[in-house]
Amino acid sequence: MTVDSTAAGTDAAGFAGLPRAKNQKVLIKSYGCQMNVYDAARMADSLGVEGYSETKDAGEADLVILNTCHIRERASEKVYSELGRMNEIKEARAAKGLSTVLAVAGCVAQAEGPELIRRQPAVDFVIGTQSYHQLPEALKRAAGGPAFVMTDFDTGDKFQQLVPPVAEKIKSRGVTAFVTVQEGCDKFCAFCVVPYTRGVELSRPARQIVEEVERLANAGVRDVTLLGQNVNAWNGGAGGPRAGLPGLFEKIAGVPGISRIRYMTSHPCDMDDGLIEAHRDMPALMPYLHLPVQSGSDRVLKAMNRKHRAADYVKIIERVRRARPDIAISSDFIVGFPGETQSDFEDTMRLVREIGFASAYSFKYSSRPGTPAADLPGHPDEAMKSRRLLELQILLEEQRRAFNQARVGTMTEVLFEKEGRHKGQIGGKTPHMQAVHAEGPAELIGQIRLVELAELGSNSFRGRIAGGTAP
Ligand code: 5AD
Ligand code: SF4
Repeated sequence: MTVDSTAAGTDAAGFAGLPRAKNQKVLIKSYGCQMNVYDAARMADSLGVEGYSETKDAGEADLVILNTCHIRERASEKVYSELGRMNEIKEARAAKGLSTVLAVAGCVAQAEGPELIRRQPAVDFVIGTQSYHQLPEALKRAAGGPAFVMTDFDTGDKFQQLVPPVAEKIKSRGVTAFVTVQEGCDKFCAFCVVPYTRGVELSRPARQIVEEVERLANAGVRDVTLLGQNVNAWNGGAGGPRAGLPGLFEKIAGVPGISRIRYMTSHPCDMDDGLIEAHRDMPALMPYLHLPVQSGSDRVLKAMNRKHRAADYVKIIERVRRARPDIAISSDFIVGFPGETQSDFEDTMRLVREIGFASAYSFKYSSRPGTPAADLPGHPDEAMKSRRLLELQILLEEQRRAFNQARVGTMTEVLFEKEGRHKGQIGGKTPHMQAVHAEGPAELIGQIRLVELAELGSNSFRGRIAGGTAP
């Protein structure tokens, strides 16, 4: 990402009336989920107005922001090793007379605030997930002052106050875009830090979202993924005639230029009839559903506080498949949750065999401080977790291959997104989120074409572009 310093076209003063930094460079390193990718873009947009352009080189960055993930222990610990590395770079720059501001954002920032400053004194400030609109103020405070933490949850409408991206910036990010429509979670699964790091469920109003999508579409975006920790609980009101998320889909599908809509991540308990029907009725809604089940054992699901049984999940998928038979189903799994027995694990394997997933993410349970599961007895040992994870992943990989293999030889609409790795090649995605590369001119980027999926490689299809344009 590079930030256009002419961003909002203001010359004298930047965001919040602060003097603009001249030729400053920022490095934003994001870890974890798509929401962090979205947040990083919005931070970059705000900093663009301040006169910061982006760099990928820490050595030339005047400002470094680590946008962190707290979901599992390994992700969290990575932050401290990365901070150590950034500290060395900061010292090397100081030896050349250059100052560097080092900031930590994201979910580790929200969860660990003062601890970050204590463990790594090179950190200048910590900014929590609901405070990104206060970034310019934080920068002003960081100039010379002691290290500080900004992690209040109730700081006003972050989304309304964040600077929107300019057209050149959107274009540089490509023809697909994320839009956060809902943030936070009230579900409190026993293993999960999200309710503590992102706060309570909050839906952005439909009008605000549609305006953002219009801005994206005007700059060439054709495929939007609506993001939320519990996106199917979105209740931002005043969407289309349909209630809830399908109403929002309708409004977004009406934005000229938008051809594809996706949404993630959903909770089974919020998978209502309207949303299932939307998969039957709305051509712009892509046939892809990421619906985490976490476990196939009712005992474990109860201990996880998931509020549904394995059979409920199976029923939902049956209904979704009746509505949209070709839909690709994706899920998240956790193995080795406290108290998980071999028989519980076998229930998970059985559920996977019964459903047949097109893709999935699977993890070893990671104990997170402050979550109810951390205090549960019966944490399985690492070797056991590794064995179960491997067994599950082998099965999920077989299913992924089978799903893809079944599409070899079919004609599919591909939205071309970028140039391929080899000259003369372009790459894109099918409605089912499968990667495709094909021989074709770069002018097709941003267009949807009918493509024959000729051959399946390890991670993508080789496609042959047919004549004519798909709608
Ligand atoms: N340990 C392992 N995996 C976790 N996830 C969330 N919290 C944990 C944890 N403590 C997984 C869940 C969730 C995904 C985003 O990360 O599967 O759906
Ligand atoms: Fe975490 Fe559960 Fe909320 Fe998902 S639904 S963000 S797993 S607490």
